[in-house]
Amino acid sequence: MLFSRITGTGGYLPERVMTNAELETMVDTSDAWITARSGIKERRIAAEDEYTCDLAEKASLKAIQAAGKTCDEIDLIVVATSTPDVVFPSTACLLQERLGVIGPPAFDVQAVCAGFLFAVDVADKFIRTQSAKCALVVGAETFSRILDWSDRQTCVLFGDGAGAVILEPGDEPGILSTHLHSDGRFKDLLCVPTGVSRNYQKLQDGGAYVTMEGGEVFRWAVTAMSDIVKETLNANSMTLDQVDWLVPHQANSRIISAIGKRLGLSESKVIITVEKHGNTSAASVPLALDEGVRDSRIKPGNFVLIEGFGGGFTWGSAMIKM
Ligand code: UT7
Repeated sequence: MLFSRITGTGGYLPERVMTNAELETMVDTSDAWITARSGIKERRIAAEDEYTCDLAEKASLKAIQAAGKTCDEIDLIVVATSTPDVVFPSTACLLQERLGVIGPPAFDVQAVCAGFLFAVDVADKFIRTQSAKCALVVGAETFSRILDWSDRQTCVLFGDGAGAVILEPGDEPGILSTHLHSDGRFKDLLCVPTGVSRNYQKLQDGGAYVTMEGGEVFRWAVTAMSDIVKETLNANSMTLDQVDWLVPHQANSRIISAIGKRLGLSESKVIITVEKHGNTSAASVPLALDEGVRDSRIKPGNFVLIEGFGGGFTWGSAMIKM
């Protein structure tokens, strides 16, 4: 049996740091409120001429280098993003051109903050069916572009960034299992209600912004991300004690704490980056994974459970032996 293995990780954050103090000058908020309610202290914001593909490219090059690969060995590119550079071509195709990868399939998946989990699931299936041997999987976002900077309920929560992994085949896992869910009944609770086919005029007028029923989303995020941990453990006949690290979506430190409490998981086994990154949507899980790998908390052979939750609703997880 063939499995896919993560052989390299990479991450990139734009240079510009936006602190809570800066947000205090923009909307009626305070460092104390943002810190207490979300755990976020600062986030990165892409430069005016810096786009999702730019962030994706920088994260990808680091992952490719970490895996000891060259761009011409990549035979699949999957980019998870809800903030593509342009409506089309896909950000994956733009990234492919940047990397000089000519020919193999490159496409985007869109599952908002759970996007990276969906992208990993797809790429894992390509590897296991021998349709690819070296997959580049990226989560990249410039969420700052779809924020209403006068709406204190959303603008303080999000940031920009990109994370990437290289997946290659191996005889042993690797990725032990992936789990995906969606429930479109909740489409209105977290969305950008503006698009190409609908409300295009608003898009042209620069009115495409994230709207969120924060409290409802919070409750669902805690329930879904706790339940999917149990689902993932059950699928692998594992207990929580056997998991070395949980890498959850980084939306709010209170969500992460509530998940830990429900599961009885110590925070010392959770990678948390939300304080410095804010919510980078599809980039949050691969960025946190990369941080854990690069600072050597996550070691080869560790069991790592990654999970995400986002608009749709969409949620997903993967159990990985590093
Ligand atoms: O990535 C996808 C998943 N996204 C999430 O998981 C986000 C989920 N939701 C959350 O993280 C939290 O619900 C928030 C951080 C968005 C909000 O925290 P909360 O504890 O649910 O606060 P709240 O919305 O109940 O608001 C409490 C108060 C309100 O004032 P009143 O009505 O009590 O007078 C808000 O108007 O806080 C007010 N408020 C703020 N005050 C200062 C809302 N935003 C701000 C702000 N600064 N930025």
